[in-house]
Amino acid sequence: MRLYIGFLLVVVAVVECGHTFIGTNVQRPQVYHNMVRYDSLVFRKRIENLYYTLPALPANAGRAIQGILAYDLSNSDASANVTQGGIGYNYVNLRMKSSRGKSLKFDIYIYA
Ligand SMILES: *[C@@H]1O[C@H](CO)[C@@H](O)[C@H](O)[C@H]1NC(C)=O
Repeated sequence: MRLYIGFLLVVVAVVECGHTFIGTNVQRPQVYHNMVRYDSLVFRKRIENLYYTLPALPANAGRAIQGILAYDLSNSDASANVTQGGIGYNYVNLRMKSSRGKSLKFDIYIYA
């Protein structure tokens, strides 16, 4: 039973409402958190990229990203995908897309 405590997700899962969880955050320190917000475009989907690189510190030598959580706060069918890097890399590019005519609002957490 102990195995399940503190376990969030170890698989790629894209569920309705646009939340994206990749990798795991079990016992991984959070290295980044940001709430990104972009206003809506009339009749159009808004596409934005978020680029994150682990700071080049001695403490980060050999470290890699182990978990990414993109929580959709816009209450629409927005989505977020990793397009570069990600789990096992020291950088990630996250591509976020809003619903047509809706604002883009994501809560992003990265664990490494
Ligand atoms: C993410 O990937 C899914 C499935 O391929 C696609 O439907 C969606 O539009 C993509 N989202 C972004 C932001 O690229």
